[in-house]
Amino acid sequence: MATIRDVADLANVSIATVSRVLNESGYVSPELDQRVRQAIATLGYRRNALARNLRRNESLTVGVLIPDSSNPFFAEVAKGIEEICFSQGYTVVLCNTDENSQKAASYLSSLYQQRVAGFVVVTTEKLQEHIRQSLDDDFPIVIVDRAVSNLDMDSVVSDNYGGARQAVEHLISLGHRRIGFVVGEKELETIRSRWSGAVDAMHGAGIGVDQRLVYSKVDYLPGSGYAATESLLSQHTPPTAIFAFNDLMALGVLNYAQSHGTAVPEQLSVVGFDDILIASYAVPSLTTIAQPKYELGRTVAEILLQRIQGHRGERVNLVLPTQLVVRNSTARPMD
Ligand code: RIB
Repeated sequence: MATIRDVADLANVSIATVSRVLNESGYVSPELDQRVRQAIATLGYRRNALARNLRRNESLTVGVLIPDSSNPFFAEVAKGIEEICFSQGYTVVLCNTDENSQKAASYLSSLYQQRVAGFVVVTTEKLQEHIRQSLDDDFPIVIVDRAVSNLDMDSVVSDNYGGARQAVEHLISLGHRRIGFVVGEKELETIRSRWSGAVDAMHGAGIGVDQRLVYSKVDYLPGSGYAATESLLSQHTPPTAIFAFNDLMALGVLNYAQSHGTAVPEQLSVVGFDDILIASYAVPSLTTIAQPKYELGRTVAEILLQRIQGHRGERVNLVLPTQLVVRNSTARPMD
């Protein structure tokens, strides 16, 4: 019996394109549409609803792809996913992609061949392209934490814009005007949203952003925060505060300050983002923006399992609130 993959191979298109023709959903050029329909006729392909249903129900395994399993942020999100999946009889296969889209694509294809029931993915632009090309349009896959622009899939993210805006407004309310930023790659929607919130807070207070105080080449790990602080504090007029776009980098900022005699918060205020467990145990304890990490995981897993079990409702794109947590790493700047 011909399969959808046979049709795709004969028509020389992706499975996703064949799926779009079969579902008459999404755009397919007349030329490709004709090639697919010709291949369907030649092979005598018939959609096998039973096989499709079997695929989903047969496998009680869910693939979860996260960029860095050593980062406590993702560990807490994965814990929420795993608890919901386990409670409904599903096994989670956790894949660490090392912030590498090719490795992520390889995991997706491999687990898809092994007939997982669905995926939770922290995605990127490149990975979305691979998903569109390689997976059935209606295959259960939901996005958590890092969405992308024009996303046409279910997703659950934090209010990155609001959280970053709150972080900078907090520093401004203390009297800081020269604020340094340790940001990520602007390709990530998450980072673009945080940057937009930070800039709006600065402009809202009539403060311009000094590009010499923006450090972007980072890997979201403490070493980036350490290197960024070395660069920012070496400026002719250094910042009196630094906002790092995640807690691990903020810990690197603290480490540099403390190992170079800069008192935090007296001489330098520091704010992070995530509120991972260790943030409250840092010395001084880290002021940060709390993401609902465990809730992100539980919520996205609930959506995925509903899709696996056949729920065909409208697409869901949820934004969960973040919260400023003021601790001991921020204070008024020295006069
Ligand atoms: O710490 C990892 C960062 O990247 C977090 O802020 C999270 O939102 C992820 O996207």
